[in-house]
Amino acid sequence: MAVLVTGGTGFIGSHAVVELIEDGRDVVILDNLSNSKECVLDRIEKITGKRPAFRKVDLLDMEGVRGVFREFPEIDCVIHFAGLKAVGESVAKPMLYYHNNLTGTLNLCHAMEEAGVRRIVFSSSATVYGKPDSVPIREDFPLRTTNPYGETKLMIERILSDITVAYPEWSVSILRYFNPIGAHVSGLIGEDPKGIPNNLLPYITKVAGGKLPCLSVYGNDYNTHDGTGVRDYIHVVDLAKAHLCALDRAAKVKGIEYFNIGTGNGYSVLDIVAAYEKATGIKINYKIVDRRPGDIDECYADPAKAKELLGWEAQYGIERMCEDSARWQKLNPDGYGE
Ligand code: NAD
Ligand code: UD1
Repeated sequence: MAVLVTGGTGFIGSHAVVELIEDGRDVVILDNLSNSKECVLDRIEKITGKRPAFRKVDLLDMEGVRGVFREFPEIDCVIHFAGLKAVGESVAKPMLYYHNNLTGTLNLCHAMEEAGVRRIVFSSSATVYGKPDSVPIREDFPLRTTNPYGETKLMIERILSDITVAYPEWSVSILRYFNPIGAHVSGLIGEDPKGIPNNLLPYITKVAGGKLPCLSVYGNDYNTHDGTGVRDYIHVVDLAKAHLCALDRAAKVKGIEYFNIGTGNGYSVLDIVAAYEKATGIKINYKIVDRRPGDIDECYADPAKAKELLGWEAQYGIERMCEDSARWQKLNPDGYGE
């Protein structure tokens, strides 16, 4: 039996592949390398001693996707990470985002049904809660999105829900991630954003590494303990492990289930700056600037459902997340390079 991991050379996918291999599972990676590099496979092999099967295939290529299921009849479940994820880019290029994320997922689901593979774990996001009325956020909170990226996540959740109605043999686990950061403890795999990072931690690591001069803190007039935005940062290895728990649960439960994958703790931008400074001894230059449009005051999870039904709980705290991010940056100042 094997797990098909779409987007398996990406940031979260590569960490999930390591956890799967270390748990003794066979893995097949499908990725078009639009936002990742093939050398990630060398790194995974270095960590685990095993090289996962890899096929460079675009989910938009229906025949290519079918071919992977034909070539690997042992695939019996899927973890679906592949997708485009930059909020700002999705506003500028909505057609690209809807086409890639929705058509890609539909092709995958078609190929799965044809191959008789009916178990899938899907990467959703806390972005589906929009601006929540209160925190911590539970899975039954109202869903609303504010940008095309978030809309694709919500639409895919609905597509998968409709599939479980039409095809009762399907098992779908929707994981709504909060803010994944950190890196594998080896420093061999981590987040490698193209160009100037949009997200907080990759930006801080670039400032710490001298690649960028100063962090812009987007607003200090939010309704939070120090005025800067509060988020639920989760170590990417903890997040990766949640996928194994979700796969196992989906093997026992038909239909669709939704889980928040966060720590339940909220940290502000300035808390993170301080934690990074403490973990590394490096001073982070920052300045307060205007709010970023679309940002919200506070967003953190109630992770009780994942604990109860998946038996999963985050293990790593913010210090460890910063230490591991810093190690990745130090050992790979230019990410995976060319
Ligand atoms: P990533 O960009 O590092 O990984 C995604 C991978 O999918 C990349 O390797 C890319 O090449 C591949 N891909 C994209 N379109 C494809 C296609 N059409 N066919 C085949 N491969 C394709 O992103 P990530 O941070 O690892 O995120 C993984 C998933 O988790 C995404 O679906 C993302 O939306 C979701 N998510 C991420 C975050 C986050 O902060 N990183 C938060 C919530 C949800
Ligand atoms: C962003 C996305 C969200 C996605 C999530 C995880 C937006 C509007 N939202 O959320 O859809 O699911 O990433 O990938 O892009 N900050 C700074 N300076 C920076 C960068 C960030 O002050 O240079 C602040 C932000 O204002 C926020 C916090 O840091 O308060 C976290 O920002 P970020 O890492 O971008 O994540 P989110 O805004 O939570």
